[in-house]
Amino acid sequence: MLRAASSSARTASRALTTVTAERGIKVAVLGAAGGIGQPLSMLCKLSPLIDEVGCYDVVGTPGVAADLSHIPSKAKITGNLPSSGTWPPSGNKGLEAALTGADIVIIPAGVPRKPGMTRDDLFNTNAGIVKTLVEGCAKFCPNAVLGIISNPVNSTVPIAAEVLKKAGVYNPKKLLGVTTLDVCRANTFVAENQNMDVSKLNVPVIGGHAGITILPLLSQVPGAKFSDADREKLTVRIQFGGDEVVAAKAGSGSATLSMAYAGFLFTEGLIKGMKGEDVTMCAYVESTITEASFFASPVKFGPEGVKEVLGFGTLSAYEKVWFDKMIPDLKKQIAKGIEFANAKP
Ligand code: NAD
Ligand code: LMR
Repeated sequence: MLRAASSSARTASRALTTVTAERGIKVAVLGAAGGIGQPLSMLCKLSPLIDEVGCYDVVGTPGVAADLSHIPSKAKITGNLPSSGTWPPSGNKGLEAALTGADIVIIPAGVPRKPGMTRDDLFNTNAGIVKTLVEGCAKFCPNAVLGIISNPVNSTVPIAAEVLKKAGVYNPKKLLGVTTLDVCRANTFVAENQNMDVSKLNVPVIGGHAGITILPLLSQVPGAKFSDADREKLTVRIQFGGDEVVAAKAGSGSATLSMAYAGFLFTEGLIKGMKGEDVTMCAYVESTITEASFFASPVKFGPEGVKEVLGFGTLSAYEKVWFDKMIPDLKKQIAKGIEFANAKP
């Protein structure tokens, strides 16, 4: 999933590492007491690349942080609630404390799906949560790179962009929707189907993060040969991989552990990119490569977050059919987010 560092990238890395070595890397996790937030905070606490983890949620973060603080790793950890209660007990409180000094903010706050729901059914609850949290980011860490996990990602990322614009701090290089789980699923399912080494796979998955807006480019997997039936089965399984987990969890939520892993890969990828390593991952970003103003495609990471939004090459005839179906849906979901963010209160 991550490309190897070139020697020129390593030279750049040395210059930037000096900067980050002085003050370290702080990651804030908003929604840190949740199903994704807890294991994601733990993976961040374990990472040798992270110096501080600021956990924030409306419940539970002092306990999460106290618990994680007993792990013997270098990252300092704090647990913050909106008003009363914090960990360590003498620490500063609230969203401000979690966000101040953050280089990266990962947002998995919000409600998950139950069987029978689409991600868009979460809009009414999660749109407001993301809006409020991103307002906090604009105020307390306007230069941080934001990774949005909360669904519906196709709409919550445009909401975040509008909030940041209103606050006068929008930088499209610093706002990304996390679609890494789609790539993880594609790698896993393709490796099983083709009997390949999963650690060597990096299937590009483009579009958005909901149903048919998720488009794995199976035609671009080197050495793979799919029957028509397998191509169809795999494409649909990757598009609806989230539903598979929602159904299996039978009302208790959606993917959390695989998402925490994917969110952590994304976070580490961002940090490595910031330090000058050559890292390319698919992510949902502001984009001009299609008619949709936000689109997931391979993105080069760099010092500011996004270094370059890359194209996705030539689609097969099969992929082109899905692509044409996806674009109107994606544009509608983007417009819904923009309209929400700009609605009069
Ligand atoms: P969860 O209910 O287990 O956890 C969500 C957490 O958010 C809770 O602890 C809750 O207290 C917290 N929260 C709610 N409002 C908040 C606020 N205003 N400020 C701070 N925290 C707040 O849910 P989960 O399973 O962790 O899923 C979280 C979100 O991630 C859902 O919207 C889900 O659909 C989404 N998700 C996205 C992907 C992806 O690939 N992008 C994958 C899986 C899940
Ligand atoms: C996923 O892809 O697992 C997440 O978007 C959660 C969901 O609702 O499916």
